[in-house]
Amino acid sequence: MTDWSTIEALPQIKLEQLFADDLERLTKLSLDVAGIHFDWSKTHLTRDAITAFEALAKEMDLAGKREAMFAGAHVNVTEDRPVEHTAERGEGKADSVARAAEFHARMRMLIDAIEAEAFGPVRHVLHVGIGGSALGPNLLVDALGRDNERYDVAIVSNVDGMALDDVFERFDPATTLLVVASKTFTTTETMMNAESTIAWMQENGVEDPYGRVIALTAAPDKAVEWGVDETRILPFSEGVGGRYSLWSSIGFPAAIKLGWDQFAELLEGAAEMDRHFRLTALHENAPALAAFADLYYTQVRGCETRAPFAYDERLRLLPSYLQQLEMESNGKGVTVDGQPVGRPTAPITWGGVGTDAQHAVFQLLHQGTHLVPVEFLAVIEAGDTLAEEHHRQLLLNAFAQGAALMKGRANPDDPARAYPGDRPSSTILLDVLDARTLGALIAFYEHRVFVNGVLLGINSFDQFGVELGKEMAKAAAKGGGDFDPSTTDLIRRAGLE
Ligand code: F6P
Repeated sequence: MTDWSTIEALPQIKLEQLFADDLERLTKLSLDVAGIHFDWSKTHLTRDAITAFEALAKEMDLAGKREAMFAGAHVNVTEDRPVEHTAERGEGKADSVARAAEFHARMRMLIDAIEAEAFGPVRHVLHVGIGGSALGPNLLVDALGRDNERYDVAIVSNVDGMALDDVFERFDPATTLLVVASKTFTTTETMMNAESTIAWMQENGVEDPYGRVIALTAAPDKAVEWGVDETRILPFSEGVGGRYSLWSSIGFPAAIKLGWDQFAELLEGAAEMDRHFRLTALHENAPALAAFADLYYTQVRGCETRAPFAYDERLRLLPSYLQQLEMESNGKGVTVDGQPVGRPTAPITWGGVGTDAQHAVFQLLHQGTHLVPVEFLAVIEAGDTLAEEHHRQLLLNAFAQGAALMKGRANPDDPARAYPGDRPSSTILLDVLDARTLGALIAFYEHRVFVNGVLLGINSFDQFGVELGKEMAKAAAKGGGDFDPSTTDLIRRAGLE
């Protein structure tokens, strides 16, 4: 059993006091890596806390496990697989890196062929996938592809036909490329959306719709079986987990929309963060420090949630991307040895977009009874074309909110108007939002999840929790399933028996 007692026994000093006690606090608790400034000074992390977490990391062999991950050991023990997403950016075991480079070369050639109109004119790219096969590409295209009008890219995940209906209304079937993204190539929603798109193409006079399909998958045989020509299958390795897969061929819509050079920059930015994570002492290591703060709040202060807020429209999809990354990875109840963890694991990740969120959910953050560690994300260089005042307002709002959460305001005469303060926040400030910096940022989150997982003793790389619901939905779709009276009644009411 891990000894958390030192961490639990740390004195609970107020944030303002921590600043008053140590004039160097800001310097000690902020870092600059890969064009990103990280500031944890408005969290309750202290030098003592960091030292205690370093001891815990030693006890849990974080350094050994980190090396094992990069070296291609089967650290995903429950699935007996290596974890190869870092190899996609050139960091990892030599043969995994070489294979990823081969797959990338293949992807690049196919993109060149599409650009040379080898499949006829392509104007629209319809990417169907779900979970990790949609959230990452969607984030990249939305964050970086706004000014690029060459291809109109739509990413559809929901099995609700309205999602496809919307796209069918605006896309021309004759110039649409269907991209089917599924690691397993068996996911019900994705396969149904892919089949409906083929039917739409057929109904609209496309003679050979399968000739306009590209498959992104770790199961190429299944894609061939489904009807995709081998030359249009872009494989990736089984060791790349769904929520870690945007670096692989799953990133295809981003690569075609942004161009190969930008995609390569994304990988290079992530590789820079990989090297930082791998080679830097933990007290100066961005993913490790962020994880220490996460664990401090979940294990010591009883926080059940954490909330990243993107103060940049281009990062509006980041909170939902992080929800899968963090909760699917660390929302576990047993350790790698199959024992109950015996302590809280991943907090619930929520969050949103600033400044909108200030006028909706920030009431709870400032005065509610839940303590929520907030994360502000902002970019110094504006993405808009409007007067400077917009961006100035945006950034100042982010910074002022962090200050207000920490400072609070007493009001002995009117408790309804009092702010308790001492509420933690961290700030992640990007110099610019380009492919390279975004790559580094996403890799930072991946490694932060890894450190959280190792220190909790759990496997961050499986996701068996999603299987039971899938199984029961499949049984129900076949008219079977042994359901309780409530569920049976709902199925009957909706006329689905
Ligand atoms: O149901 C969860 C999940 O397996 C995710 O882990 C994954 O990202 C998503 O489904 C999609 O899976 P696939 O890429 O195999 O279609």
